[in-house]
Amino acid sequence: MLYGYEDWPKLSLESFKLGKELNPRSLRVGSIKYDFEPTSVVITGMGGSGIVGDIVRDSLWSYNIIVHKDFNIPKWVDSRSLVIAVSYSGETLETICGALDALKRGIPVVGVTTGGRLASELEGRGAPVVKVPKAIAPRFGLPNLLYAVLGVLSHYLSIPEIDESIKIQEDALKSELPGRLASFVRGHVPMIFVPLGLQAVAYRFKNDLNENAKTPAVVAVVPEADHNDIVAVMLKHPVKYIIIRGRTDDVHDYLMRTVEEVVRSYSSDVEVIELKGSSRLSQEVYGSMLLGLVSIKLAELYGIDPVRTDPINTLKEKIKGISCPSN
Ligand code: PA5
Repeated sequence: MLYGYEDWPKLSLESFKLGKELNPRSLRVGSIKYDFEPTSVVITGMGGSGIVGDIVRDSLWSYNIIVHKDFNIPKWVDSRSLVIAVSYSGETLETICGALDALKRGIPVVGVTTGGRLASELEGRGAPVVKVPKAIAPRFGLPNLLYAVLGVLSHYLSIPEIDESIKIQEDALKSELPGRLASFVRGHVPMIFVPLGLQAVAYRFKNDLNENAKTPAVVAVVPEADHNDIVAVMLKHPVKYIIIRGRTDDVHDYLMRTVEEVVRSYSSDVEVIELKGSSRLSQEVYGSMLLGLVSIKLAELYGIDPVRTDPINTLKEKIKGISCPSN
């Protein structure tokens, strides 16, 4: 079973259109105007919704994209910024609080969700909401959320390579790597080295390993990892090393090759993943899909249900009644 991965190309296209159809530029919410050139875009969301912000930040790296994974948005954000609140279920308290806090402070907010309280709170205040199709679980709705956000952003920023990023998904679907890599990491903690600029791929992989395969994982972002994480290779641990290589610039490419050399000089438990695609967006979408499939295969090897995330549900239930922080 592929948990809807086979529909990603179609959903990506549809969701981009949904995001684009809602042209927030024509809108006004009380005194809040949406027709402006944002000095920054704040993308707020948690978990499988929050990773959308990481991918957008890496992909649109020449813009000021801030990823926010908490309740109220930072104090410095003002009405020159655009806030996009992403929550698959629309029930995530952190994201609802962030969106309402922004609106209260006169900052334009766009919601991207399947519905829930986020949609009703925003719509009740006249703020725009893109409603995306449902998936098996929030993280499986990545194309729905990501491409809807890109569609909205296309009214404000120049978005590269949408077509290529959708086409390349077929390559990830056809790859035989997921089964092989799942067997490689089985019974171990994956330590994932990734270059800065493509780190969302590694965080998405970590999150998918955590949630789908109930497995802890470590992300080591280069160059910072060259100054700390790398030292852990000196001792034998129940760890398998995964090196994600993509194209950002010559320096980071060189750094990743040197990291591989150093890790291999201590351990033979190393696999290198080459990201396909010419833009960062394509590479991140390709990597998210390919490595997400690894987490599904690993769940299969462990004989567990990738969809169940009982501890998340317990935690959400426990914080349900609390109020948003007062600023
Ligand atoms: O993938 C998951 O199930 C989680 O990581 C959720 O995305 C996270 O708990 C946030 O929920 P939502 O995406 O509904 O806002």
